[in-house]
Amino acid sequence: MTTTMITADDLFQRVNHVIPSIEWATMADDAEAILRLKRERGAVILAHNYMRPEVFHGVSDIVGDSLALAREAMTVDADVIVLAGVHFMAETAKLLNPSKTVLIPDLRSGCSLAESITAEDVRELRHRHPGVPVVTYVNTSAAVKAESDICCTSGNAVSIIESLGVPEVIMIPDQYLAANVARQTGVRVITHPGACEVHERFTPGDIRQIRADYRGDVTVLAHPECPPEVVDEADYAGSTAQMISFVAERRPKRVALITECSMSDNVAQEYADVEFVRPCNLCPHMKRNSLGAIRRALETMTNEVTVDPAVAVRARAAVDRMLEVR
Ligand code: 13P
Ligand code: SF4
Repeated sequence: MTTTMITADDLFQRVNHVIPSIEWATMADDAEAILRLKRERGAVILAHNYMRPEVFHGVSDIVGDSLALAREAMTVDADVIVLAGVHFMAETAKLLNPSKTVLIPDLRSGCSLAESITAEDVRELRHRHPGVPVVTYVNTSAAVKAESDICCTSGNAVSIIESLGVPEVIMIPDQYLAANVARQTGVRVITHPGACEVHERFTPGDIRQIRADYRGDVTVLAHPECPPEVVDEADYAGSTAQMISFVAERRPKRVALITECSMSDNVAQEYADVEFVRPCNLCPHMKRNSLGAIRRALETMTNEVTVDPAVAVRARAAVDRMLEVR
């Protein structure tokens, strides 16, 4: 039997629309080493939609938004999961598939939302609002999830809130996602002053400027972590996966994705017929997932993410309740 080996040249074909060949030349060695290490270690790479194209299209096995990565992590058969994303995503993978070794390319890959709230903050909110269910965005630590009734992602937040059938919820820690969901569902939302450092920087003026630059001939998609006044200026708001589906299904002539920078590159590689306007803010945490960092994690098998079993049981219950709804 002959096995076809994927080479760095094959990988280049997957990114040649967005990475110049001269730049790829500096990446090819790491990319080839990662392919070899994945085989040797029995590893798969789960990558968030914000990874750079060389990671997203080049070396990953599964890509997606937070919700898809959580679902996929649950069914991974390989011994090792490399989570090319941020720490809370790796923790969620570990919660859902605890027998696997979960590595993160750089342990410093945090998230301004996850860092905005502690388990103690959640206990205090519960104390102040007795009986009100706590819906926690997955962009949080396992310890915060453990204090929650149910989790949500940007892709299912509306369905999760509606599934509860209550007039009021505590929805933490993203004040903007909470405000956007409150408007869509009519449910009263008590929140927390957390924000995504990437999405909170977009302004309504940015979108009006893009529309003016293209005389209105542009479709604008925004992530719901953007402030409500930004979402109001957009044509559509959705998770990273929902934005990709919008482009795939509707094929707008020209689109602006109001979100992290790599999204446009990753989607542009696949839809050459769509013109991408590229307003973007970089997520410094996501950008720590370089090919070099992935290679090092696999070479040394370091940067393992673990969760205290007592916390994991309670955190997993909140994630499982979410996955039962959607
Ligand atoms: P998605 O679930 O839409 O992929 O969002 C995750 C995230 O971190 C957005 O900033
Ligand atoms: Fe966190 Fe924002 Fe970065 Fe997503 S983009 S990981 S929410 S800081």
